[in-house]
Amino acid sequence: MSAPIGVFDSGVGGLSVLREIQQLLPAESLLYVADSGHVPYGEKPPEFIRERSRRIAAFLVEQGAKALVVACNTATAAAINDLRAEFNLPIIGMEPAVKPAALATRNGVVGVLATTGTLQSAKFAALLDRFARSVEVITQPCPGLVECVEHGELCGPAVEALLKRYTAPLVAAGCDTLILGCTHYPFLRPALVPLLPTQVQLVDTGAAVARQLLAQLTACALRHEGDAAPTRFWTSGEPQLLHRVLPVLLNTDSPVEKLKV
Ligand code: DGL
Repeated sequence: MSAPIGVFDSGVGGLSVLREIQQLLPAESLLYVADSGHVPYGEKPPEFIRERSRRIAAFLVEQGAKALVVACNTATAAAINDLRAEFNLPIIGMEPAVKPAALATRNGVVGVLATTGTLQSAKFAALLDRFARSVEVITQPCPGLVECVEHGELCGPAVEALLKRYTAPLVAAGCDTLILGCTHYPFLRPALVPLLPTQVQLVDTGAAVARQLLAQLTACALRHEGDAAPTRFWTSGEPQLLHRVLPVLLNTDSPVEKLKV
């Protein structure tokens, strides 16, 4: 089925998931919404995030989406149950990679970098309860990092100072596995890695979400064979800003439309 797949995030973080989807499913056409007019979601009330997610999902469904990917841990935690109740199509969400990290850790100490909203959510508590009973998990909210990525600022003194501040307690606690629990953070890997002891491994969920999407499309007989249409991008923020960071984050120069929802 040639209909597109709708992908959204509070901003540009979901592009780290979009690139995994493009790699695994090159025949699928994609629509991407960055809600950059309301970023960051991480410090906002769950009701606000649910309402934004509902409006964006409705917009993507209007554009003909056959499936949705909530490429945002914070929006998944706040809104995915409501979205699945309201919209009748496959909806894939993100969650911090607690299960893979609990399996990967060698010393039993796992760190989680995520937004305040994700770390405070009932979904995250349930995830820990289910998969992390046998490991020690240390969580760290990271205000400010998302804003850096939104501006395409992936390295430099300001980013490094924030990364040092947020990883220091996790390194001091002896974490050997670090979960990147926000879709903006994989873009900071190159700045993050040199700040960590070499034995620390980083895990994120983008590739697993792309595989999950493939499985659901296959199960629902929704896969497309052939050529994909060019990916379309919308933002509720400044289209020029997204257009300026797209080459940095996704190596593309696509046009960006203004989202009016
Ligand atoms: N990229 C998002 C996530 O995965 C949210 C970041 C934010 O807007 O605070 O959680």
